[in-house]
Amino acid sequence: MERFQGGDGGQSNNRWEMGLQSGVQRGQGTGSIEHLLSRAQGMLNQSHSEAEIVRVLQESIRGLSKNPRIEEDRRDKGPEGGERESPVALRNPFCSFFLFLSLLLVFMSTMQMTNAKVHHHDFVVQATPVKRLCKTHNSITVNGMYPGPTLEVNNGDTLVVNVVNRARYNVTIHWHGVRQMRTGWADGPEFVTQCPIRPGGSYTYRFTIQGQEGTLWWHAHSSWLRATVYGALIIRPRKGDSYPFPKPKRETPLLLGEWWDANPIDVVRQATRTGAAPNVSDAYTINGQPGDLYNCSSKDTTIVPIDSGETNLLRVINSGLNQQLFFKIANHKFTVVGADASYVKPFTTSVLMLGPGQTTDVLITADQPPSRYYIAARAYASAQGAPFDNTTTTAILEYKSANCQTKCASIKPVRAIMPAFNDTATATAFTTSFRSPRKVEVPTKIDHNLFFAVGLGLMNCPRGSRSRNCQGPNGTRFAASMNNVSFVLPSNFSLLQAHQQGIPGVFTTDFPGAPPVKFDYTGNVSRSLWQPVKSTKLYKLKYGETVQIVLQGTSIFTAENHPIHLHGYDFYIVAEGFGNFNPSRDTSKFNLVDPPLRNTASVPVGGWAVIRFVADNPGVWLMHCHLDVHITWGLAMAFIVEDGVGELQTLEAPPADLPVC
Ligand code: C2O
Repeated sequence: MERFQGGDGGQSNNRWEMGLQSGVQRGQGTGSIEHLLSRAQGMLNQSHSEAEIVRVLQESIRGLSKNPRIEEDRRDKGPEGGERESPVALRNPFCSFFLFLSLLLVFMSTMQMTNAKVHHHDFVVQATPVKRLCKTHNSITVNGMYPGPTLEVNNGDTLVVNVVNRARYNVTIHWHGVRQMRTGWADGPEFVTQCPIRPGGSYTYRFTIQGQEGTLWWHAHSSWLRATVYGALIIRPRKGDSYPFPKPKRETPLLLGEWWDANPIDVVRQATRTGAAPNVSDAYTINGQPGDLYNCSSKDTTIVPIDSGETNLLRVINSGLNQQLFFKIANHKFTVVGADASYVKPFTTSVLMLGPGQTTDVLITADQPPSRYYIAARAYASAQGAPFDNTTTTAILEYKSANCQTKCASIKPVRAIMPAFNDTATATAFTTSFRSPRKVEVPTKIDHNLFFAVGLGLMNCPRGSRSRNCQGPNGTRFAASMNNVSFVLPSNFSLLQAHQQGIPGVFTTDFPGAPPVKFDYTGNVSRSLWQPVKSTKLYKLKYGETVQIVLQGTSIFTAENHPIHLHGYDFYIVAEGFGNFNPSRDTSKFNLVDPPLRNTASVPVGGWAVIRFVADNPGVWLMHCHLDVHITWGLAMAFIVEDGVGELQTLEAPPADLPVC
């Protein structure tokens, strides 16, 4: 169900416009109004994002005194306030100024009415019988669908998703990669930006897509529910805008997933009880289907149609829980055009590698003899000696011109030759091929130069515990940490609520900016450095500060590739490498010209990656390894980004239906 914004009063939809008003109310023009207007008009004509226009206007009108009477008056006007002229404005000394601005608002809101939409959706989280690998499980789904519904929007649109929990577990939904400017309450990680939606409860997520285009996705952010509670979020360019590549004939989202022949919640609960590693999955899936190589699966294998000569867009999403995946199509090449909802400088490759959380948009041309070709994904398993699911999921790229119609199933698809499970060279060649499409503005003056050692650990068996609760290596329990802190979520308040309401005792803000002890991170690490400390430590940033983080993998217990995801932000990956990061050697290799913009970085096995971002989104933002098994063990931390000056730099008020603990 979708409605145009004009139709329903639009409570949250004119967010940028309200932002503009408040900017206006806060300040008065310093330059000529005509100049301001023509600048805004010019920007609109060039389809600059609303956020950009607001920023420019804000800059232009900053610094003059406030007129509270007008603000009050406009607030009372409700939904159309921005589009009507205020009589108070006309009486006031800045009369002509406000007249102009009112005109501007009318102009801009008309622009937005014709362009941006508000999409309303209902998500009912419920147990649903799902049969895979010959057996039916009562899986938790959204609206009875596995994977869940695909959401399709345009850049600039607003989503209003009412989530109703009819399952027997707590749940939250996270909109992975959505920047959530000022709308941190809609981000979703349980106990971080909200308390969970209890069974029988509901919560409405409202947020606007600002300046992001490409493929993102949504998933449950509570325990391991995202094993079955996930779906694609497709963001097309604004109406009237086009892709920065030839328009594809068809577009197909391909969600790579992981399936347990068990209840995934039981799997993680057992691991938490025993302290051992959780069971690996029993199958990978493409759009929910394991494919031809598994028992009882071939008749439901996902078919992706294509016609000879066509160029189509595939939106590949790794929605698996715990495994980086290689992805290939037999005899075909990909042109990579986007990742994590940012465009990239196109490059060709025959194989993709995605960590959980990452998305990659690729073009594929049907330039092979008409036939059927396997689309396949299997593990990139970087941790030496650690068990992993070594099965292969397949779908079929089927040429319509193969003219097989009724007997298609009898044509054996061409097999895809996959890289070896431990082919780090192929993974690295892929991850280091990414560039932004053009020169970008990478922060160069760094306010916070951080160094995070990320990796596993082992907890000594707690005193008084039984051996059956310490079934990790040598009678320990598995753990993971950043800078030796094994992150613990609160249970009585969300971090964001505690921050916003000043509730003491929920967290501390002393997350260390460097490891408490320096050591040879990727060498032979002394056993005494294997035990992290459990706590809820956050790191505080002021609005607008610039941050660099060296994400340094460790070889504690085992070195492994970690997909590190930051909520609420995209960051530039300016460099990656193997071994220990060495500032005097490695800083000179930073790409400060056209590094890729991502929300999840693959930190190489036994290596490091360096990311940079500007803290321009107030709130509490989780950063964690997107291997769910590692979050369970504590491989996470969170940033507090304080409010800046004025409404546009301030977290919105919490929604009235925000779940409490
Ligand atoms: Cu894709 Cu914290 O999540």
